[in-house]
Amino acid sequence: MKNGVDLVLGIETSCDETAISLIRVGPDRTVEILSEQIASQVELHALYGGVVPELASREHFKALPLLFEKVTQDMQRLKISLDQITAIAVTRGPGLKGCLIVGVQFAHGLGDAIGVPVIGVNHIEAHLLSPMIASQELSYPFLGLIVSGGHSEIHLVKGLGNYSLICRTIDDAAGEAFDKSAFLLGFDYPGGAQLAALADQSESSKLRLPRAMNDQRKKGFSFSGLKTAASLLIKKHEAELEKDSRLKVEIAFAIQEAIVELLVRKTRLAIKSTRVRQIALSGGVSANKRLQSQLEEVSPGQVYLPLPQHCADNATMIAYLGSLYLNKNSKDLEPYQVYPRWPIETESGAIV
Ligand code: KG4
Ligand code: ZN
Repeated sequence: MKNGVDLVLGIETSCDETAISLIRVGPDRTVEILSEQIASQVELHALYGGVVPELASREHFKALPLLFEKVTQDMQRLKISLDQITAIAVTRGPGLKGCLIVGVQFAHGLGDAIGVPVIGVNHIEAHLLSPMIASQELSYPFLGLIVSGGHSEIHLVKGLGNYSLICRTIDDAAGEAFDKSAFLLGFDYPGGAQLAALADQSESSKLRLPRAMNDQRKKGFSFSGLKTAASLLIKKHEAELEKDSRLKVEIAFAIQEAIVELLVRKTRLAIKSTRVRQIALSGGVSANKRLQSQLEEVSPGQVYLPLPQHCADNATMIAYLGSLYLNKNSKDLEPYQVYPRWPIETESGAIV
């Protein structure tokens, strides 16, 4: 660290995005993004209707050196040399094992070559804190609502590395619920954003889908039944759907409403039980406009979002989390280890 300023390189390969970012973090937590590179594999996996792990790790292996080359080009332009980098942060879990191994090995190779520490961080924790990159005023404690293709959970964030789980889905994630329903409506995987865009063309619907575990006493929530209900609804209206494009909008609205309402209700309950009103929304589904506006009604002026490019997977959030842990100096007892399943209640951010 020079004058309280850290330059951290972040590497992300946990699923189907390969990403490298370089950020400068000031002593007052200000973040400047110096380079932000990403290569998405979404189109490749769309051919198979979901992420194929073996293909994903091979793509990361190919993309990492190319993205790093682009980062070094940005560094040359900004007259920053490799020896000015303070640390490398890398996702070591949760995620697809082979993909995590590719990223962690690359980070270590680079770390050894330029002589800087490697900090292994938790991908979910990085999502959780990602709204702090965009909003300096977001302070602990806050409620972190992570809604992505693989996760849907609410945590009470009391401080760095100090999280308690309030509730989570017992089956499908919110993004999965969007994607599976979108597929039934004829959109290619992952069709969540397209379903949402269609739903936003309407303000109401006479159709209503069930909300599972929408009960105050139940801690978790569930989205798997929604897919079945949506499928039955679409089958029932199959013939009309061909002729009536308005009906498709109404069905999309009903699906989005069922997902959003359940998430908002659980957030409302979390506020009631913790008395914490700040909400930090993160993960791919945090881009959903209806979810954003409904949460804003629950906690006006206290809903914090990531920057639009940081809603889905990215390496800036990994670099940022690494910068927070950098100064904690925790010792890593298992360098090179990856954790495909890694609850955030376990502390991350150990320095190798
Ligand atoms: O965070 P992310 O990249 O996934 C994981 O890391 O798991 O989020 C991707 C998910 C996909 O399911 C995608 O359909 C969904 O986020 N998504 C949306 C929207 N934009 C992306 N879902 C609903 N509304 C959107 N606007
Ligand atoms: Zn993610």
